[in-house]
Amino acid sequence: MTARITGRNFLFVPGPTNIPDRVQRAMLVAMEDHRSSKFPELSTSVLNDLRKVFKTDTGQVFIFPSSGTGAWEAALTNTLSPGDKILASRFGQFSHLWIDMAQRLGYDVEVLEVEWGEGVPLERYAERLRADTRHQIRGVLACHNETATGVTSDIAGLRRVMDSAGHPALLFVDTVSSLGSIDFRMDEWGVDLAVSGSQKGLMLPAGLGILGVSRKALEAMPKSTARRCYFDLADMIKANATGYFPYTPSLPMLYGLRESLNIIFEEGLENIFSRHRYLAEGVRAAVTKGWGLKLCAKEPKWYSDTVSAILVPEGINGAHVIDVAFRRYNLALGAGLAKVAGKLFRIGHLGDLNELMLMGAIAGAEMAMLDVGMKLTPGSGVGAASTYWRANDPAPKRRVSQQEQFYGAHSTGSIQG
Ligand SMILES: Cc1ncc(COP(=O)(O)O)c(C=O)c1O
Repeated sequence: MTARITGRNFLFVPGPTNIPDRVQRAMLVAMEDHRSSKFPELSTSVLNDLRKVFKTDTGQVFIFPSSGTGAWEAALTNTLSPGDKILASRFGQFSHLWIDMAQRLGYDVEVLEVEWGEGVPLERYAERLRADTRHQIRGVLACHNETATGVTSDIAGLRRVMDSAGHPALLFVDTVSSLGSIDFRMDEWGVDLAVSGSQKGLMLPAGLGILGVSRKALEAMPKSTARRCYFDLADMIKANATGYFPYTPSLPMLYGLRESLNIIFEEGLENIFSRHRYLAEGVRAAVTKGWGLKLCAKEPKWYSDTVSAILVPEGINGAHVIDVAFRRYNLALGAGLAKVAGKLFRIGHLGDLNELMLMGAIAGAEMAMLDVGMKLTPGSGVGAASTYWRANDPAPKRRVSQQEQFYGAHSTGSIQG
């Protein structure tokens, strides 16, 4: 199919997410001197305000011109030494890639293999941590939201497990697809290294690796013998103290981040979390009630409010659905990765989104599924999502009564055109 597709592309991969117009405009700036006396106003304000998003008063936040993967590397190499023992669990492509990185950096990783569709296995962590009476495990890794399978894990529960085992290891958490969209509490949950990136809940392009670091982790740094240079937090701490970076920062990204933080605080973090829950519930209604399909997440306790991974039936290739959605309907859906390639497709529902944007994704996914031969009732996904959303607005004040509708400008015919 070579015809030009008109209209907007519907971007529903779970990151990069849709960038609000305000953020796009804020990034459209002439370059400036990043060593000017004015620059620290911008850098200090975004670094301070990011702490509110991580919910940390005592920790420090760092921004690297990388992506989330760079922040993974910074977290590991600044606080642990090669050969150190790490406890981690693998249940999707992103928890896998972090483990793979830790192994390639020379750490001794003990991996708890978990079925894809489940999340951090608290009982198994508890067992291993209790057994480690000599405290040889130095780092505990967990992926808060596994983007590949649409699974969210209980990080507060993991902290309880570590505390009840009296275990002093550092807690490393991947928040790349949860920060700013699913509740995350760095201080309250005792997270030492919180890894994130710019292109998901922060509604920016990819290009910033963002890392929250606790006091305890900062104190562990001098003991680390890992080799590092570009990602050395010591250089960053020194430069950030005066409002600068040890190298050239991306100005448009920092201006964009300033605006995205403004938008986040205007809506309010807690409202953002409930909006994500509400939008996700509508998508889940479309999947399970409308289409009669299953999510990759095995139980409701694992359901992710930022991404749904939808299993396609035997004999259907999820990649085919994605390709038809893209080429025919200008809709970008997320692919099945690694072990689940072909078995599912994903709808990302995070960032700057509302019901009707998601209706586009649900309708387009449904049309693509019908096109590849799946037996569905046309309109069933949209119908189920609409039923859920109409009945469950998390901001009840927004609800329009029939009375208001009747007296609205359009119903009086007073507006022309
Ligand atoms: C949970 C999770 N961790 C890590 C990454 C890697 O981040 P990046 O692609 O920004 O390097 C991703 C990317 O999608 C992710 O979803």
